[in-house]
Amino acid sequence: MRVTFTVNGRRTEADDVWEGESLLYVLRERLGLPGSKNACEQGECGSCTVRLDGVPVCSCLVAAGQAEGRDVVTVEGLADHARRRALARGRPYPEGAADGPALAPVQQAFVDAGAVQCGFCTPGLLVAADELLERAPDPSDADIREALSGNLCRCTGYEKILDAVRLAAVRQGARDARDDQEGSVR
Ligand code: FES
Ligand code: FES
Repeated sequence: MRVTFTVNGRRTEADDVWEGESLLYVLRERLGLPGSKNACEQGECGSCTVRLDGVPVCSCLVAAGQAEGRDVVTVEGLADHARRRALARGRPYPEGAADGPALAPVQQAFVDAGAVQCGFCTPGLLVAADELLERAPDPSDADIREALSGNLCRCTGYEKILDAVRLAAVRQGARDARDDQEGSVR
């Protein structure tokens, strides 16, 4: 069957999809988007997390056919998603650059906080963390733990991951406060 859906802002078609094929398989093997990782294929680890109509899901558990006509964001589209979100909120993103940076703010925070080791869990964590920061710009530690509770990491011990999400939230808050201030003096 053919599946037609939007992936990272682009209308996309996948042909010859078998009925039992997962969204994760289609993304990785048919569409050339290997960012979402296949670690357990059982919905246990979160390394395959993508957003389906805005909601974080384990793409290994979603049948590709369920994505028909829907909107998918993978880690490859995270920077562009963050850019479009900022523009929709009337926030400059980033200062002076037309196309946006290669990394979303949450990705840069993971780099800066040293929250990546082998990186296998990272794409799923980034997608989940970005969704949290979208709906809860100033999350508590409990919020962060809950949002990331479905994402397993074997390497980092989670502290640096928590640091990264806190850092992204602080930067986002500082940026919003500065933009509000600049807007009020214009
Ligand atoms: S590969 Fe999907 S949850 Fe582990
Ligand atoms: S960095 Fe290796 S599993 Fe998380």
